[in-house]
Amino acid sequence: MVDHITIAGAEHDAEAERELSWRAKTLGLAALDMDDAELMHSWRSDPVAAHQIGIWPRSLTAVRERIERDVEDDDRDDFLILLPDSTPVGHVALTNQNIVNGTAQVELMLAARHRGHGHGTAALDAVVDLAFGELPMHRLTAETHTDNAPALAVLAKSGFTQEGISRAACLHRGRRHDLAVFSLLRPEWEELNRPRAWEA
Ligand SMILES: CC(C)(COP(=O)(O)OP(=O)(O)OC[C@H]1O[C@@H](n2cnc3c(N)ncnc32)[C@H](O)[C@@H]1OP(=O)(O)O)[C@@H](O)C(=O)NCCC(=O)NCCS
Repeated sequence: MVDHITIAGAEHDAEAERELSWRAKTLGLAALDMDDAELMHSWRSDPVAAHQIGIWPRSLTAVRERIERDVEDDDRDDFLILLPDSTPVGHVALTNQNIVNGTAQVELMLAARHRGHGHGTAALDAVVDLAFGELPMHRLTAETHTDNAPALAVLAKSGFTQEGISRAACLHRGRRHDLAVFSLLRPEWEELNRPRAWEA
């Protein structure tokens, strides 16, 4: 692995053959690994993402250590989102998995320069299909603050319903924001009129 690389270089590095864990029509999901730390670090450092999902920029070492812990964590699955030419465009995760209750939370972040091309919706649909089609999930949740217009749009487009608001639950840029709580239940997913990932 190269130590000092540009973002473009990091993307190129990650283009090395990756075994996909899940395939959808326009993208694939590969299990996140330690070698992806530079990419994750560069994406997390984007100020727009920092504002939209309230992440605090971390050192590369801290990102590496976090990935190391997450890889060991049985309650979550983290994926790199890859285009058909293997370009990595973002990160999607199924966290807080509770197999007994059939619940999990979805987290999604695209690299700034890959936003606005439909990849966010495609990645969310892909991980939703994984959760309901391959894992025995019954209820998926996602959270975003109520000023995050792209996230609100993507969640609605993928069939999630806003089920409530946690008032003043997050602090961004010096002011309190409400947190919108979204969910998608298995029967609602079954009703969605779109091809499933495995039909692509
Ligand atoms: C939220 C995020 C994943 C969206 O991904 P994306 O690939 O840019 O979104 P898409 O291109 O799939 O857009 C999906 C819909 O959202 C709409 N949308 C995108 N940006 C928007 C904006 N700024 N305002 C309003 N709607 C927007 C699009 O118009 C599209 O709807 P349409 O197809 O009917 O036109 C991406 O912006 C991101 O990574 N943001 C930072 C992290 C974050 O907020 N994560 C979400 C946590 S739930």
